[in-house]
Amino acid sequence: MPRGVAAGNHGRDGFVAGSRRGAATARILEFCPDSASTSRRLCESQSFWQMPGVKIRYAKDADLDGLEGLERQSFASDRLARRSLRRLISHPTAALRVAAEEPGGPVHGYGLVLFRKGSSVARLYSIAVAARQRGAGFGRQLLADAEAVAAGRGHRVLRLEVREDNRGAIRFYEAKGYRLIGRREAYYADGMDALRYEKALARTRPARRRGN
Ligand SMILES: CC(C)(COP(=O)(O)OP(=O)(O)OC[C@H]1O[C@@H](n2cnc3c(N)ncnc32)[C@H](O)[C@@H]1OP(=O)(O)O)[C@@H](O)C(=O)NCCC(=O)NCCS
Repeated sequence: MPRGVAAGNHGRDGFVAGSRRGAATARILEFCPDSASTSRRLCESQSFWQMPGVKIRYAKDADLDGLEGLERQSFASDRLARRSLRRLISHPTAALRVAAEEPGGPVHGYGLVLFRKGSSVARLYSIAVAARQRGAGFGRQLLADAEAVAAGRGHRVLRLEVREDNRGAIRFYEAKGYRLIGRREAYYADGMDALRYEKALARTRPARRRGN
């Protein structure tokens, strides 16, 4: 993604291990009695599966405040401006998906996929989870959703760029099956290189453009 990463992107320590819903929930409950240490943040956050009202859906204009807030807390530079976000919401070659309840309520995370007509490759342009919800499964769900949306539109591969110093995101992508395919030197405004990753997508039936 062509953007910087804000300080506070947590490391391995605050993480809910395990990829199953039950395991993630149990780990959080197990941590909660101890509020004196690094576990506190986990107690304050809820896992994706503990929030049944939250679903992943297309963003609407009423989500713009929430999206702007996510940009501020997730990226130190190259943030998507409100007007860009607004344009992306209705753009035919973009899928801006949010993990949220009703439009206008809190937005816990988002994923943005860009498409090019006639190309088998889609691009994960951005993904971010609210700082207090990180490590609770939102990123995993948003990434799976981005892959499903891209595959549903007939794309075979999802590609992305990530700052070489964003170790957390790199581990996240590698754990989710992304393969390093190259590097773009001095890709970011501060001179940092980007690592390029891709993943072959499972074939699915074509999806509708709109709806939840
Ligand atoms: C990267 C990001 C989207 C991950 O979202 P998340 O909700 O914290 O991730 P999840 O809780 O769903 O974790 C998914 C998996 O990735 C791993 N993972 C995620 N972030 C990690 C980190 N910082 N360090 C190590 N592992 C990490 C988890 O262990 C987990 O593995 P599992 O599925 O086997 O349990 C989130 O940390 C974020 O918003 N970061 C700031 C913005 C950013 O850097 N975006 C990427 C720009 S390229």
